[in-house]
Amino acid sequence: MSSKKVKTVITSALPYANGPIHIGHLVEYIQTDIYVRFLKMAGEDVIYCCADDTHGTPIEINAFQKGISPNELIEYYYKEHTKDFKDFDIEFDSYYSTNSPENKEFSDLFFSRFVKNGDIEKKEVELTYCKHCKRFLPDRFVKGECPKCGAKDQYGDHCEVCNATYSPIELINSYCIICKNPPTRKKSVHYFFKLSNYAEKLKKWLIENKRLQKEIKNYVLNWIEEGLKDWDITRDAPYFGFNILGEKNKYYYVWLDAPIGYIASTKHYCDQHNLDYRLYWEDKNGRIIHFIGKDIIYFHFLFWPAQLMAAGFNLPYNIVVHGFLTLKKEKMSKSRGHLISAREYLDKLDPNYLRFYYACNLSHSMSDINFDPEQLKNRVNSQLIGNFANFANRTLTFLKKNFDGKVGDFNDEEPLKKIKINVEKILAAYRDIDFRQVINLIMEIGDIGNNYMQSMEPWRVIKEDKKKAHEIVALCFHILKQLCILMKPIVPSLCKKLEKQLNLENLTLKDLEIKTDKTHEIGSPSPLVQMITEIPFLDVKEKPDPIELVELKVAKVEKAFEHPNSDKLMVLSVSLGKEIRQIVAGIRNYYSPKELIGKNIIIIANLKPAIIRGYKSNGMLLAAVAKDKMGLLTIFKASPGDPVEINGLTYKGSYELSINEFKKISIVSEGEKILYKGKILKVKGETVKADRNVKGKLS
Ligand code: 2FM
Ligand code: ZN
Repeated sequence: MSSKKVKTVITSALPYANGPIHIGHLVEYIQTDIYVRFLKMAGEDVIYCCADDTHGTPIEINAFQKGISPNELIEYYYKEHTKDFKDFDIEFDSYYSTNSPENKEFSDLFFSRFVKNGDIEKKEVELTYCKHCKRFLPDRFVKGECPKCGAKDQYGDHCEVCNATYSPIELINSYCIICKNPPTRKKSVHYFFKLSNYAEKLKKWLIENKRLQKEIKNYVLNWIEEGLKDWDITRDAPYFGFNILGEKNKYYYVWLDAPIGYIASTKHYCDQHNLDYRLYWEDKNGRIIHFIGKDIIYFHFLFWPAQLMAAGFNLPYNIVVHGFLTLKKEKMSKSRGHLISAREYLDKLDPNYLRFYYACNLSHSMSDINFDPEQLKNRVNSQLIGNFANFANRTLTFLKKNFDGKVGDFNDEEPLKKIKINVEKILAAYRDIDFRQVINLIMEIGDIGNNYMQSMEPWRVIKEDKKKAHEIVALCFHILKQLCILMKPIVPSLCKKLEKQLNLENLTLKDLEIKTDKTHEIGSPSPLVQMITEIPFLDVKEKPDPIELVELKVAKVEKAFEHPNSDKLMVLSVSLGKEIRQIVAGIRNYYSPKELIGKNIIIIANLKPAIIRGYKSNGMLLAAVAKDKMGLLTIFKASPGDPVEINGLTYKGSYELSINEFKKISIVSEGEKILYKGKILKVKGETVKADRNVKGKLS
């Protein structure tokens, strides 16, 4: 086995078979697809391999909760994913599944080589366990109150409110998210991969591989310097995955077999095409290029190359890392429903638009891309259509109408000089995976073509000199053909349509060389693509911070009396400046009516009114509570009705809050100041305080 020719396998990260593809995922698939198509057009021996990532706890639990088997679930998503990709013109050579016999074989091969090298150590670990569900619980399956700030409903590994990280045992009132019972701890013996055995080799690879993005290299090198921990590659039953070689109730952790899925997918393709997968993964002329998002750098720059080293496979030739797609400046999120699925997009718009828009925004960097529907509309209308498609249509209809579609010859070489320089730069930018630059340079060529036609006015010249007019438009035809070739990796189906109109098939980079063929006749011109008339996806709302749904206001207590039917409640009448409200509050054990009258306190003004023991309550007082103390939030200089300010977070208006929504919000009193997410509550610049200096959580 040996190949003289370089053979490249290119991959995108394997999407989980646990939900639909959304436009955030598509950044990567479109980026990779453009690159692969370009290399193929350059005549390189490249294959694009991917697969569904099918294993792990979330998939197993999701299937369980849906009442289907994991196999049924992954089969469903396999069909959905492959259809979505096809409809976005993502052209894989192999789209496989990690739940395949090839992948099991490779996973076992890797594992047995790890064992042989002395890279595996067995250790007893103590883990979070749910007795009720009879399963170990990964961090994401335990929730509780944050041990640092007390916020409710936080995951077992990190608090989304105060950003603290901790272990699930530290969570307060923790519960299993499946059955809501409190978890316990249980011991188990796990296999660990000794990542540190590869520290030196990893360092060498990172330093010597000049293609890797510098920004990433440096921080991965830092992780190595800080010391690499052993990697737990075991999961206990129940689990959906592959049994560890020689074990019954233990499985390879999904992140062990997922990247091995890149190899399995290659092998599957090679077996069908009479090729040897080793030419990509083991031969010295084999090249591996991964495209990934910045959230999985650790796995691809440390664990994965170490796995490859340990198993004796080639190391990645390059790993291209892109940023996230944000929607209204916020990361797309499946759990919060803040996303546009591939299908939702396709129901509204042409896939070429998104491919073009992403190319406009993609450079070889980790910067995030913000999906801005208005920008998408403007870019598509002015550049893809205004510059490129219109030039195509003007050129081809003129040729058809006046010269029966015969291209003829040209003799003005001048415009081609600048174009030639741009073409070279475009090819280089494609190789650098700098598609933003590719588009800019293509648009310059489009401008040259459009300006040439506009200034030469063939529609006027034709009246006096038909030959001259024919030459003008013949040159436009050749510029258009070049544009078609250069745009093809980005908008392939659109260019295919154009190829048909040009009456040229399967154009490649070789066809960039201008050769005149006087006998060539074009096909029938028609508009390539529709303008976007309305801004799409305007209904995707910006997600407010939860506190922005709470109307916090200053209220002055005018009257207060003890509730006749309760020994805890007090009935207050408060002024909000323009209105008087009645509020029933459980503060009688802490305050007398006399103490309250005249006080400026803080209330929630947009709660749904309730009747409490026969008295209407329209609002809620805020107070810090600690053991046997209570301190109402107070402010001195402010006037009734003034809004509370929290550093840039403002009440979004006209929203009726439920008490449960408020309970999820964590505001903490430090006595002299009150904090939400570390931000101080103020009224007209004055800091809100807790009466009696009570420190603690607000309720
Ligand atoms: O983060 C993810 O979505 C993973 N499913 C990516 C796996 S990529 C590779 F390692 F398999
Ligand atoms: Zn449980």
